[in-house]
Amino acid sequence: MIKLIIDTIKDHQIEEFCSYFNGQIHQQKLIYQPMPITTFTEIFYEESENNKKINIACWENNTIIGYASGCLNLETLTPFLTLVIITQSYQRIGIGTKLYQLLENKLKNYTTHSLKISFFNPVKIPWFLQDQQKRTHPTVPGVLIDSISYKFFQKLGFNDVVKQNVYLLELEKFSLSNKVQKKIEELKNKDIEIEFYNPMKHQNFDELFFDLKNDDWKEVITTALNNDKEKLPILVLTHNRTVIGFSGPLQVETCGRGYFNGIGIHSNYRNMGAGKLLFSMLCHYFKEMGASYMTLFTGEENKARYIYEKAGFEIVHSFMVMEK
Ligand SMILES: CC(C)(COP(=O)(O)OP(=O)(O)OC[C@H]1O[C@@H](n2cnc3c(N)ncnc32)[C@H](O)[C@@H]1OP(=O)(O)O)[C@@H](O)C(=O)NCCC(=O)NCCS
Repeated sequence: MIKLIIDTIKDHQIEEFCSYFNGQIHQQKLIYQPMPITTFTEIFYEESENNKKINIACWENNTIIGYASGCLNLETLTPFLTLVIITQSYQRIGIGTKLYQLLENKLKNYTTHSLKISFFNPVKIPWFLQDQQKRTHPTVPGVLIDSISYKFFQKLGFNDVVKQNVYLLELEKFSLSNKVQKKIEELKNKDIEIEFYNPMKHQNFDELFFDLKNDDWKEVITTALNNDKEKLPILVLTHNRTVIGFSGPLQVETCGRGYFNGIGIHSNYRNMGAGKLLFSMLCHYFKEMGASYMTLFTGEENKARYIYEKAGFEIVHSFMVMEK
């Protein structure tokens, strides 16, 4: 008979849990990136005024045999399940379920909203694309389909919300097609061009963000433009110098990944192939800047997937956003 202790993790135990997390990644070949204690603490423990983090664990004879983590967005009162890990030799005897139930109860003390496993979780865990040990992505989009954990969460009563596919593009394989070159000329004849943003030359960025109605993009781009220390380039689609689309800011991460925050085209200029073109130019410039790959994810039903697929992106993993 196993004698278990399930309890909240105390601050002085964080280091031990960081080692447990890293050890389990190795032993169970999990997708997560191993991390130093500073990163682990920042991701799983440090709270901001907008979120509360809950970490609980399970011990047998002072040995950790399970770890579960969750987060509550205090603004929207949405609770998120971040992670449940059980040591392999203790799996399939109900410990994961027990640990989960305690975490669920703790989160439900704060809210009646349904519990989500989703990329909206403020806790972002970096992970390796399988069989691609050098290719990383900064957010887990949901529960990996075709995994034990998917069956586990189904058994716990979680329902499917939306399937998210993770895409990878190896930039080595990327080149601008003849079709893209032709499209550039076609749009140029209509005074529509793709350039890097130049505040001395281009105007009406604000009007674009007003039309796109996306505060997150507006904030990221405004911050990038006001950052005098590091001038990250931003690609813009322009019509006679007026900004009618954007993508960026472009940043080559140390791992070689090309990072950009978003892509958007003004509603008056949609359905003319400009978005597809802008995205191809984004890939092109990332390659020129020395990035070796790009990753992103999007919903199975999201039309944007065709833009990515046309540029050569391939699906490498599928996740399910779940809720209970
Ligand atoms: C997912 C995980 C936490 C489950 O923990 P556990 O203690 O083994 O789970 P339980 O024993 O409570 O299982 C509950 C149900 O989940 C499902 N399940 C669990 N393991 C399963 C497996 N290997 N195969 C099929 N179904 C499984 C079953 O429906 C099971 O109920 P049943 O035994 O009555 O059929 C554990 O496998 C694990 O640590 N995996 C690695 C970490 C991970 O990927 N975590 C998920 C990301 S958050």
